[in-house]
Amino acid sequence: MLIQRPADIPSSEITPKSVYLQRRQFIQNTLGLGALALLPEALQAKSSDFPRLKKSPYSTSETPTPYDKVTNYNNFYEFGSSKSAPALLAKYFKTTPWSVRIDGAVEKPGTYTLEDILKPHTLEERIYRLRCVEAWSMVIPWVGFPLADLLKRFGPTANAKYVAFETLHDPEQMPGQKSRFSLDWPYVEGLRMDEAMHPLTILAMGLYGETLPKQNGAPLRLVVPWKYGFKSIKSIVRIHFTETRPATTWGRMGPDEYGFYANVNPAVDHPRWSQKTERKLGGGFFSSLFKQETRFLNGYAEQVGHLYAGMDLSKAF
Ligand code: MTE
Repeated sequence: MLIQRPADIPSSEITPKSVYLQRRQFIQNTLGLGALALLPEALQAKSSDFPRLKKSPYSTSETPTPYDKVTNYNNFYEFGSSKSAPALLAKYFKTTPWSVRIDGAVEKPGTYTLEDILKPHTLEERIYRLRCVEAWSMVIPWVGFPLADLLKRFGPTANAKYVAFETLHDPEQMPGQKSRFSLDWPYVEGLRMDEAMHPLTILAMGLYGETLPKQNGAPLRLVVPWKYGFKSIKSIVRIHFTETRPATTWGRMGPDEYGFYANVNPAVDHPRWSQKTERKLGGGFFSSLFKQETRFLNGYAEQVGHLYAGMDLSKAF
């Protein structure tokens, strides 16, 4: 069950680099090289680029999806529409230097370097399930901080009713953006201000204790755990505060299929498939045979249900 975990129960620890390397060395010395391939994938987790990460009480207690799956089965249409393309084609994507433009209904607009953006924030590990609209899910140990902490720094004005996000548009680096049969670029997404300010909404710059892999949206991406994965926009270069609801990439592509809210909701089918169940990726052969039931708001109804009080979520999907 996806529930808030009390802070005193340790979450599944990321193996520290030294321990991980010692373990590999030990297995290699005693059993030979071939034995490494037999190591459970969880033990093959990456080293930590972010030591002493604070563990979040908002994490799920579910077992994380193996690192290799998280970083090799991606949706990032800027690098192609197949799941394996982003890991291959984003290899040389340049994520430094990086800056983010802040504009619209805000007191301190400007272009901020990534360093400016990250400096005052304390990073933490948040283990969230990402439920894709395509009815699969992964559980990912993100490294990030609450989006609200960042937005408050820029002083949104009373007119800021929504916040829109934009991904880099650079067809020279992002081959998917050259295709005429793909999406409208740049990729844009949006949240209502109260959704953006909710403590569950984070900006992530890492996963599995390491700097965010490029295919997962380096250097900075959104993660909104109660919404379908397409809201969690990658490689953000602009944050725009607005009074009116922003258009979104998938909403433009198929307004009947991809609503603005995109709340995980097993009661509202996608017009072409059911959303009642999901397949958790990377759990081995048997788990790929069994689907699990999808939970309303991805299990966070208690925390975020009130945001939608009085709304008909079959219409505002
Ligand atoms: N952001 C951008 N810029 N481009 C995309 O194609 N795909 C979305 C979301 N963010 C996407 C994006 C979708 S459909 C999903 S399911 C998640 O990213 C996938 O994130 P992951 O590859 O890290 O699992």
